[in-house]
Amino acid sequence: MADPTGRDLTDLLTPKHDRIDLRRLRRLVERELALYVERTPRSRELADRARKHMIGGVMSSWHGDWHLPHPLYVERAKDNRVWDVDGNEYIDFNLGDTPDMFGHAPDNEVTRSVSDFVRTSGSATLLPSEDAIVASEILSERFGLRYWYSALSASDANRFSIKIARMVTGRPRVLMFNLAYHGTVDETLHWTLEPGVIRRRFHADYAPGQDPATTTKIANWNDLDSVERALQDGDVALVLTEPALTNTGIVLPEPGFHKELRALCSRYGAYLLIDETHTLSEGPRGCTGAWGLEPDFWVAGKAIASGIPCAVYGFSEEIGDRLAALLSSDDPQGVGGMTGIGTTVAGNALSTHALRATLENLLTEEVYTEMRQSARRLVHGMREVIAKHEVPFSITAMGNRCDLRFLPHPARDAFDGALGIGVGGYFEFAHLRALNRGFLIIPYYNMFLCSPTTKPQDVDAWIECFDELVADLLRDPGGTR
Ligand SMILES: Cc1ncc(COP(=O)(O)O)c(C=O)c1O
Repeated sequence: MADPTGRDLTDLLTPKHDRIDLRRLRRLVERELALYVERTPRSRELADRARKHMIGGVMSSWHGDWHLPHPLYVERAKDNRVWDVDGNEYIDFNLGDTPDMFGHAPDNEVTRSVSDFVRTSGSATLLPSEDAIVASEILSERFGLRYWYSALSASDANRFSIKIARMVTGRPRVLMFNLAYHGTVDETLHWTLEPGVIRRRFHADYAPGQDPATTTKIANWNDLDSVERALQDGDVALVLTEPALTNTGIVLPEPGFHKELRALCSRYGAYLLIDETHTLSEGPRGCTGAWGLEPDFWVAGKAIASGIPCAVYGFSEEIGDRLAALLSSDDPQGVGGMTGIGTTVAGNALSTHALRATLENLLTEEVYTEMRQSARRLVHGMREVIAKHEVPFSITAMGNRCDLRFLPHPARDAFDGALGIGVGGYFEFAHLRALNRGFLIIPYYNMFLCSPTTKPQDVDAWIECFDELVADLLRDPGGTR
């Protein structure tokens, strides 16, 4: 397998282990693909119709990224369950890649309050509401930043933060960590295989117009020297990072990493953005609160408003004051319509209501205690299966989520993380086998996320399935299955 420039990516593919026959694994994948087609005739019919007006039969390209012969069309989702149009039921450990982390339409205060709101109030008035004031007060108290804006996706929140950082510093570039993901933000859709050579990800090569050499620098996770080298030229406006990398499986920071990262940003005049879109799983104050991080910008989307489209970005008093001065100098007559930040539907009343209700009712210690209990049961059970079969796999845990790695040690950097995902063999087999037995796992890596609606018996059902899955991997290559 090769990347778009023809470079061989063999080393990034599924790890080789003594007791597992990779050719047989290929056959197992084929078996599961055939079973999927057999189980989902109605989805297949819908896909044929859907492809007429949607590429791949989907409204969002991400819906088509499940490595399936045709998309799985959903009839409905409730709590931690999803039902497809063929009537198959799934226990959901994906939860939409975290937006529905608190459950699909769960029976809780947010669902009730948002339903009432939809019935009684309009959403798009282009005017603020008291909900926004309360939400900004809570966010400020939780995450330590003075000013807050809202967007409709974490991608946008990162995009708008980059814009503000550039405006107030007058610097052009952002610094990101290799293989990190911060949404569909052009400046960050990059990676590198060798120092100084930036490559585009997600087919961005086919979209001319933006030269990554002028917008982006890339450092290596847990490698502070590479951060310092990148900052030394003084052209970086913003360093974007997650507290722990999550999109190549969980890659934790080494002790002292964040403290020194903060210090380097201050020393070289770059702002630091902590993107907690995925690490809200750590607790109601994210990793920022739990680990005492000190960002200049803070971003979260997805679960922050219980899956209702909403994201937030906060920034320090100093940044806010510099921004306010710039905005008023752009609009000396005070005629309005000149700010150009965000979008007209950002901060709409419905999203903001859901944001406030989520902050008040779900981002609480009580709810997280429940979710962490399920996650602990899951981690314990999966580790027992791994030990029982003596397979060289491992589990990395974080709050209410964990990752399965097809390598025995925790990941040290993003490449190590990516290798542990097991793409090219284990990954495809594990995901298809799980899906065909009634479990949903995020299609990009091996995350298992627990919601307050995840019951102990759901966890136990998955552990049993995982046990069989691993046994299947190890079965005698001469066997018939
Ligand atoms: C860390 C991080 N930031 C931002 C995003 C973008 O989120 P969205 O696709 O909702 O814009 C993601 C998406 O997975 C993410 O993992």
